[in-house]
Amino acid sequence: MANLVTSLCCVVLAAVVVAYAQRRSQLVARNQYERMGSDVTMQCGSLDNDASVSWKVNGTDVKAQHRLEGPRLILTQVNLGHNGLYSCFQNPHGERRDTIILHIGIPPREPTVTCRSNTYPKGFYCSWHQLYSTYIPTTFEVDVQHNQRSLEVQKDSVHKNRCHVRFPEVFSSFPYKVNVTAVNALGKASTTITFEESTIVKPDPPERVTATPIRFNPRRLEVSWHSPATWPDIDNFPLKYFLRYRPLIRDQWQHVELSDSTSHTITDAYAGKEYIIQVAAKDTEIGTWSDWSVAVHATPWIEDPLPIASTTEDSSTLLTETKTSPIPSSNAPQKAEPPVGRAAKLLTFFSPLLLGMLLLLM
Ligand SMILES: *[C@@H]1O[C@H](CO)[C@@H](O)[C@H](O)[C@H]1NC(C)=O
Ligand SMILES: *[C@@H]1O[C@H](CO)[C@@H](O)[C@H](O)[C@H]1NC(C)=O
Repeated sequence: MANLVTSLCCVVLAAVVVAYAQRRSQLVARNQYERMGSDVTMQCGSLDNDASVSWKVNGTDVKAQHRLEGPRLILTQVNLGHNGLYSCFQNPHGERRDTIILHIGIPPREPTVTCRSNTYPKGFYCSWHQLYSTYIPTTFEVDVQHNQRSLEVQKDSVHKNRCHVRFPEVFSSFPYKVNVTAVNALGKASTTITFEESTIVKPDPPERVTATPIRFNPRRLEVSWHSPATWPDIDNFPLKYFLRYRPLIRDQWQHVELSDSTSHTITDAYAGKEYIIQVAAKDTEIGTWSDWSVAVHATPWIEDPLPIASTTEDSSTLLTETKTSPIPSSNAPQKAEPPVGRAAKLLTFFSPLLLGMLLLLM
């Protein structure tokens, strides 16, 4: 008895749910995806062929070129301008029978795929992108094969079009095969790349590069840096470094290749010139050079420049004499300069005042 009541209850409930769902389906908008340039048919609910309906888009009449065939609206050669919320109403009472969100787009094309290991020997990552927009949501499926088995693929938490794969073994001679498939409502397209472990190893650039002048050494710069933090095992997989530097005023770089040291002293800098310095890293055995690090600027040590301002004229000249030149006579013309300069500065400072006073007098 209880069982019968329960099942009756269920039947009634199911009927209510179905009726509700039917009613809702007439009110809740559904998506329709169509290819750009095609002719599009929208069907008003499940109305019969002889039903008469009228259509609205975004709440107004359909202005784009179209045909009406019973419960169907046919748009020709659709483009993005046809996107919109379409509703149909059954004549003669005008009850709404269906709501369709029309999305115009294009099927995906083969994505561009690149893979790289900046965490050798832990793993590698692959990224992909589409050269053309599809205008509609497109997702990607990634399949990685190695030695006839599928490897686990982990989505990147930050980069949308990136995934990570662990190397199942190091120094493997089997190639890796990565297949990325772009999928949307209008179609799919895949790209497959095949590579060997060693060809994708590329560390990140060295970090925290600094260049500092060395006291009393007008031609030296001490450059130091840290290995990239992403490189997981610097002891067993050491990196070597490549340093390049040039004075800002020149185009040509000078290069130094270093084993696993993380500092270098430039000894042939031009005195007084500002330098630009960058470092790159490479696995000592395999792989390719990293990109260049962030550029740092530094100027070798220069003797303290002339003091510009001082309290008295006497001390200023005194300082000038002792610092710049051991020959006092050559200094003679300079002696007169600072006071003149100061007088000129005073004049410019007071000139608006003077002008004002002059104006008042007139
Ligand atoms: C309908 O509205 C959407 C959103 O405002 C707009 O992008 C679209 O072009 C409109 N469609 C038509 C056919 O006016
Ligand atoms: C790539 O993956 C897609 C989807 O799983 C599949 O249809 C296609 O055949 C695969 N391509 C290759 C070359 O394995």
